[in-house]
Amino acid sequence: MIVPNHVGIIVDGNGRWATQKGKKRSEGHLAGSKNLDSLCQYIFDKGVKILSLYVFSTENFKRSDEEVNYLMDLFIKKFKNDFKIFNKKDIKIVFSGRREPLRQEILDIIDDITYKTKDNKSGILNFCLNYGSHAEIIDAVKKINKDIINNKLVIDELNDDIFKNYLYNNLPDVDLLIRTGGEVRLSNFMLWQCAYAELYFTDILFPDFNEAELEKALDSYSKRDRRYGGINYEKKSN
Ligand code: IPE
Ligand code: IPE
Ligand code: MG
Repeated sequence: MIVPNHVGIIVDGNGRWATQKGKKRSEGHLAGSKNLDSLCQYIFDKGVKILSLYVFSTENFKRSDEEVNYLMDLFIKKFKNDFKIFNKKDIKIVFSGRREPLRQEILDIIDDITYKTKDNKSGILNFCLNYGSHAEIIDAVKKINKDIINNKLVIDELNDDIFKNYLYNNLPDVDLLIRTGGEVRLSNFMLWQCAYAELYFTDILFPDFNEAELEKALDSYSKRDRRYGGINYEKKSN
């Protein structure tokens, strides 16, 4: 089976999972977070090298203070726990997103974990927190402009590879993008990196997206014919 190098997951459906069970939305986030704990380890064990998780978008600040604060507290606990688990497995943890208006406590944890895991080599876990592709591209353009002014970059030399250095993290493109929760949209997730991603949408709400459901996504991916605009002459269907 062909295993994707970089998997992205739009973690969606926690709130509806809770509502359907007569629980508070926060309980859905807790269930989603617990599900992530086991799923992430399983994904790396399958041979995936990079895992990008969309856990909070720039737009998610539109939600109530109560929900946002609950999520931030949950992330703090989660990141501390993930550091212990993934550092032992030689996995680097990185974060993608704007720093403002995240609170200092969370920024300190992000900086600490990023620094402590920077030399790990077996895989990369990328948390997209306060992340939006539009923000990422605009931030990249601002950094590019600064480098041009400071004579560190010549505009005519800008190409795909150089541009990627200005994104929050220079990661290989996403191979498989999974979205749980039934919505068929990207909601501002890694638009640059997903240019040629294989897309997999499922109605399963994230807390129920278990290993068997993940296997379905990986199986679907392994059957895709990735042509990148070319023609795969080895496949009879062409
Ligand atoms: C995804 O679940 C988690 C975050 C966006 C933080 P949602 O909270 O969006 O769940 P639904 O879509 O309302 O069910
Ligand atoms: C996308 O989910 C963001 C994350 C999963 C973090 P949303 O629930 O915020 O997306 P929309 O509002 O349905 O597009
Ligand atoms: Mg949602």
